Amino acid sequence: MLSRIDLQKMKTENRKIAMVTAYDYPSSKTAEAAGVDMILVGDSLGMVVLGYDSTVKVTMDDMVHHGKAVQRGAPDTFVVIDMPFMSYHISLEQTLQNAQLLIQETDGQAVKLEGASEEILQATRRLTEAGIPVVAHLGLTPQSVHVLGGYKVQGKDKEAGGKLLQDAKNLADSGAIALVLECVPEELAAIITAEISIPTIGIGAGVDCDGQVLVYHDILQYGVDRLPKFVKAYADFNSEGKRGLESYIADVREMRFPSADYTFKIKDRKFLPETNKEE
Ligand code: KIV
Repeated sequence: MLSRIDLQKMKTENRKIAMVTAYDYPSSKTAEAAGVDMILVGDSLGMVVLGYDSTVKVTMDDMVHHGKAVQRGAPDTFVVIDMPFMSYHISLEQTLQNAQLLIQETDGQAVKLEGASEEILQATRRLTEAGIPVVAHLGLTPQSVHVLGGYKVQGKDKEAGGKLLQDAKNLADSGAIALVLECVPEELAAIITAEISIPTIGIGAGVDCDGQVLVYHDILQYGVDRLPKFVKAYADFNSEGKRGLESYIADVREMRFPSADYTFKIKDRKFLPETNKEE
């Protein structure tokens, strides 16, 4: 398993970090087998797995439940667990307790927090001091979608870009081990990547970030109807899965399944129980 030191080294040596989300045993097992560097148990699970319209309904229980399954499927991969909506805003004490729960219950290697307010910087410092690595997240931060006014590209003018750069520096100074940059113009992401010491992981933030992350269900087109502009689809589970299920249904209806290959036989009919019906 990579450590945070390895991730840092990858930035220094300009070797790109490949990260993907996963939410359960089969997705994390496939991600690990494919050789991904890091897995994120994203709260995007609310949308792509649980069918909510945003991430705000995701709970601590959801993250623990899915985080445990991911860990079982990918025991040798660096796993980051998202802290869900409002699990790190009420008080510092509650933030520490929730992060402790996530790490102890799931065996994950780090937690991810969105934003860079004074409260988040303080939480990042305290969690780091307590031995819990923190991955930061700036740009489009989906838990604040209602404050941001929708899923929009962030940092598009000088002032907003300058603030993002300063926020990124503050998070790095507070001890964050990596920074997810979501929906940020690539030129700004390149500046942030060059200016901060920790790896940046982009999602819709261009090729100059130190790594990339995408949502598992988006890359593989698995249960999603629309893809954001920044997603490249690498497989089509929707079509392939539907085709397979349609064949199965037709085979069942036409009694082509189960054929002899998929059926158990008794050695001799004498081993069958007596019935009153004539054979
Ligand atoms: O929840 C998630 O999947 C994320 C990624 C989009 C970075 O936070």
